[in-house]
Amino acid sequence: MQKDLGNYRKSYEKSALMEDNISDNPMELFQKWFYEVEASEGTEEPNAMTVSTLGLDGFPKNRVVLLKKYTYEGFIFYTNYESEKGKSIAENSNVCLSFFWPTMERQIIIKGNAEKIAENLSDGYFESRPEGSKLGAIVSNQSSVIPSREFLEVKLKALEKEYSGKDIERPDYWGGYIVKPLSIEFWQGRPNRLHDRIRYTLQEDFNWKIERLAP
Ligand SMILES: Cc1cc2nc3c(=O)[nH]c(=O)nc-3n(C[C@H](O)[C@H](O)[C@H](O)COP(=O)(O)O)c2cc1C
Repeated sequence: MQKDLGNYRKSYEKSALMEDNISDNPMELFQKWFYEVEASEGTEEPNAMTVSTLGLDGFPKNRVVLLKKYTYEGFIFYTNYESEKGKSIAENSNVCLSFFWPTMERQIIIKGNAEKIAENLSDGYFESRPEGSKLGAIVSNQSSVIPSREFLEVKLKALEKEYSGKDIERPDYWGGYIVKPLSIEFWQGRPNRLHDRIRYTLQEDFNWKIERLAP
């Protein structure tokens, strides 16, 4: 079986990324791009991002998670701390995040360090989730091997009974990570493969060095 994809070819023409039009702080450019992507037609889940970790088996692994908050400090997502990614981060906190936003022909790649956020912040976010999502976090021993789909459904039913009419507290193995960026690279597709790439790198004095990269 095979399929040749050589004819998939697109000219990127929607925007440009020029040095005279960007902020000194990459989080401000992130915010500008995020708003533009949110507003662009056809965008779904603009907050879906890939998190790449270096696994205990020595392989990098990517998976999609949802960005739930960003500030000047970094990017926050929520997960199970005992999942494969959680175990990888405990061993090596260097991670890479990436966004691909086809509606604006953009990509952002962030290298940084992941840290658990304060427990009260994870509590606050957990509290804001719908009941089904709260129970889902408790039901799923994320990334462990399970015998069947039914195993999860039976467990969920039992928990629904157990927690009926009661508050569901955040389990301590579930919470947020903040990824504090060390470099952020912005890619804007341009015609003739002459794409714009601007990389911000954090300096020792906490200023950001800005460089253009060849496409
Ligand atoms: C659109 C999308 C959003 C997701 N959001 C999350 C999320 O916010 N947190 C999470 O733990 N997993 C999320 N997942 C599932 C992860 O991709 C992954 O399967 C899970 O976190 C287990 O990864 P791990 O075994 O590598 O730790 C999402 C998947 C998709 C496709």
